Amino acid sequence: MSQAERLFEEVERSLGEALEAARKASSLEELEALAQLHLGRKSLLAKAFKSLGSLPEEERKRAGLRLNALREELRSELEGRRALLEAEAEARRITRERADLTLPGRWPKVGRAHPIGAVLEEITEFFLGLGFRVAEGPEVELDWYNFEALNMPPEHPARSLWDTFYLEIDPPGSLLMRTHTSPVQIRVMESGRPPVRVIAPGRTYRHDTPDASHSPVFHQVEGLVVDRSVSFADLKGTVEEFVRAFFGKGARARFRASYFPFTEPSAEVDVSCVACRGEGCRTCGQKGWLEIMGAGMVHPAVFEAVGYDPSEVSGFAFGMGVERIAMLKYGVDDIRAFYEGDVEFLERLRLPAP
Ligand code: PHE
Repeated sequence: MSQAERLFEEVERSLGEALEAARKASSLEELEALAQLHLGRKSLLAKAFKSLGSLPEEERKRAGLRLNALREELRSELEGRRALLEAEAEARRITRERADLTLPGRWPKVGRAHPIGAVLEEITEFFLGLGFRVAEGPEVELDWYNFEALNMPPEHPARSLWDTFYLEIDPPGSLLMRTHTSPVQIRVMESGRPPVRVIAPGRTYRHDTPDASHSPVFHQVEGLVVDRSVSFADLKGTVEEFVRAFFGKGARARFRASYFPFTEPSAEVDVSCVACRGEGCRTCGQKGWLEIMGAGMVHPAVFEAVGYDPSEVSGFAFGMGVERIAMLKYGVDDIRAFYEGDVEFLERLRLPAP
């Protein structure tokens, strides 16, 4: 065997091994080393190419073709393997770096409506729809509006129905924090002639010790309708319509005889318990009914106090407790929750932003 033949045999064998190694290579470095070793300038292959010149014409051609074929085979194997390894590495990188889509996002804190504000708004909307207008009065009130014009002269025992905050001002007892929104009735009637159809939402104050059902500050919505021949049936119809609109079609209203100095006859209005639908449960103390407002026909003495002629006009009035209504509507069992400014509490009620 000639030297050249041996060299060529050697090349065949070593490139065969290189192909094997290339197929099994597990890193780019390995591939690079194989290329260096077998295709580089100092490789057996390079040496074989150089030796071609010493071969006779015919044989040179054949050997040259063979060497080229071997070189291309190894090159393409190395190239193919490199592409595969790179693709695998890329796939691993993507898996490793993939965003965790199950990670909860960070939500911006958006405020929510306060239940009292939301209820006030809903009540107001309802009565605006019936043609009422909204009236307002001061929270610091004169004795005249809070009591006297409402048929409660000084020393009238009914004044003790309301535990009043008086302001220390001269003359003592003349200025107070209004204990209800009824003084707005007087202010409205003093400033205009009938017909009157107003509601007066607002804050009221009573000298009560706070507990689950008492707060020294709370809200009422007063209603007043005065015209020729307004009847108790009008009051009932209005209140029943409101109760259905606010608590749902199935809700019912019940009128219980009661007493207020500024209405005659007077009633307290109950709504069928929203929790048990009237069956009796803890919310309603097994009664099936919950009190939500005081109401009645405007007392003639009140008309006289504002200069209306009670033989000409009649009217009805009501005053509802907004916190009471909000507690029923939203299932809140402690009135103090409305005033603690606890953001978690507001979150739980899930009211939309105002
Ligand atoms: N002002 C009364 C209260 O606060 C409620 C009421 C208003 C009753 C209007 C009758 C008429 O208790």
